[in-house]
Amino acid sequence: MTFKIGLLGYGTVGTGTAEIILDPLGRNKLLQKIEIAKVGVRSLDKPRSPELPAGVLTTDLEAIVNDPEIEIVVELLGGLEPSRSLILTAIANGKHIVTANKAVIARHGAEIYNAANDAGVYVLLEAAVGGGIPVIKPLKQSLGVNRIQTVIGIINGTTNYILTQMTEEGADFDEVLAEAQKLGYAEADPSADVDGYDAADKIAILAAIAFGGRIKRDDIPCEGIRQINATDISYADDLGFVIKLLAIAKANSDKDSLQVRVHPTLVPKDHPLANVNGVYNAILVEGDPLGRVMLFGPGAGKGATASAVVSDIATIVGILQTNSTSQKLDPLLSCSHDHFSEL
Ligand code: HSE
Repeated sequence: MTFKIGLLGYGTVGTGTAEIILDPLGRNKLLQKIEIAKVGVRSLDKPRSPELPAGVLTTDLEAIVNDPEIEIVVELLGGLEPSRSLILTAIANGKHIVTANKAVIARHGAEIYNAANDAGVYVLLEAAVGGGIPVIKPLKQSLGVNRIQTVIGIINGTTNYILTQMTEEGADFDEVLAEAQKLGYAEADPSADVDGYDAADKIAILAAIAFGGRIKRDDIPCEGIRQINATDISYADDLGFVIKLLAIAKANSDKDSLQVRVHPTLVPKDHPLANVNGVYNAILVEGDPLGRVMLFGPGAGKGATASAVVSDIATIVGILQTNSTSQKLDPLLSCSHDHFSEL
């Protein structure tokens, strides 16, 4: 039995997703059950790698979200529209959603999750925050029993890459940004990265999960890194600090209100976040009674983000398979003889 998925978008993350699914050997066995049935793109003229069987690529995105055979829609278009409308149509048609789109969830998360709850479908978004770092599931599940006090993240790979290159190599801002674009880290419009909007979208999502409330994206004060220059970096260094773009969500002492913000910050050199460099991201969570946990890993790029996308697809396939075979255990949480038969 296979499960058909439709991809909306076949750019950096979409092709990375296909690369993993089309080469399942040695990975989670659930991947062998996934069939990429349709991939929606803006134009059929460009050469695509990996190549897909004839008829899979289409410019008709509506046809994907209305295709009765497709069970999971993987939204990798980014931006607000047509992503929001396509996601809502897919949900109305009973399809599960996997998305890497932080902008649409930060602004329309309530509408999308209300629709998904009504339709009884999943909307998973591990790839939307922290690239390949597992952060959404841990924050909801493993860390969710704690009373969270703080979530502080370096959650934009492009700006962390730029600041690191400026600090370590004395590199020029525009040149490093062009490099980050070439490496597939930056957004289609890199101002979303350098002006802090991408990090603000992500901290809105993390804060909503950690603190269980609706965070209005437009209320998040947000300052990017355009104004940071070599002199700032050098003064910071002399004083024992590095400059990092931090996204912060903190419970106020009244425990009834929150502060959520994004801005460049002087971080003491001996702080764990000070040593998160290059495209790496980290999310530091403080909770009661756990204390401090830091999640760290590659925060942007094809393979890292695709890893998170495919893990969400596999989670849903695992659930669909469990329901259809009446197994009692979630295959992603339990081990079976299957896991050990090849040792
Ligand atoms: N442009 C984003 C970043 C991609 O640099 O972090 C990953 O969300």
